Amino acid sequence: MNAFQLLKADHEKVAQLFEQLESASGKAKLGVFDQIRTELELHTHIEEKIFYPALEKPAETHDLTLEAYEEHAVVKKLLQELGRARTANEEWEAQAKVLQENVEHHVEEEENELFPKASQALEEEEIEALGERMEAEKARRQGGARSSAKKGGAKKASKKSAGGKKGGKSSGKKGGSKGGSRKSGSKGGKRSTKKAAKKRRR
Ligand SMILES: [Fe+2]
Repeated sequence: MNAFQLLKADHEKVAQLFEQLESASGKAKLGVFDQIRTELELHTHIEEKIFYPALEKPAETHDLTLEAYEEHAVVKKLLQELGRARTANEEWEAQAKVLQENVEHHVEEEENELFPKASQALEEEEIEALGERMEAEKARRQGGARSSAKKGGAKKASKKSAGGKKGGKSSGKKGGSKGGSRKSGSKGGKRSTKKAAKKRRR
C-alpha cells in the first residue's frame, strides 16, 4: 500500500465514524467518539512522524505541510477537550461538529492539494516506501496498545513493582519522616516518661 492509499483509507474510516457519531445517542456517542479519537491520534502520529517530514523539504509541498501540522494541532486540542466530557450535551455536540468540519477540511486539502503535489515532488518508490513505513508504525502502535491491554494485569503488577521501587525510595524518605515521627514518638516517649515521673512523684 502506498502512502496515499493508506492515508485515504484512514480518512474514509474516520468519515464513516463521524456518520456513526451523528446517528448515535447518549453514552453510545461517547463510545463512537473514543473510536474517532483513537483513529485520529494514530493517523496524525504516522503522518507527523513519517509522511510530513518527507514533504517539508520539497518546495512544492513545504507550505501545505506546515499548514497541515497546524491543522493537526487544532484537531488534537479539540480531541482533548471533547475527551474530557462525561456526557454528550449540546455544547459537546457543537464542539464535535467543529471537530468534524476541521477534519473534513484537512482531509480535503490533503487529498486534493497535498497528495497531487507530493506525487510530483517524490518518486513513486518513495511514496511506496513511506506507505510501508507508516503501515509498520501503525501496526507497532496498535500491537503495543493491544498487548498492553492483554498484559493489563502484568503491567499493573510491573507498575506495582515499579511503584514498589519508587515506594522504596519514597519510603526511604518516609523512613526519614518516620524517623521524624520516631523522634517525635521518642519525644512523646520522653513526655510520657515525664508524665509518668510526675505521676510517680505524686
Ligand atoms: Fe493529516
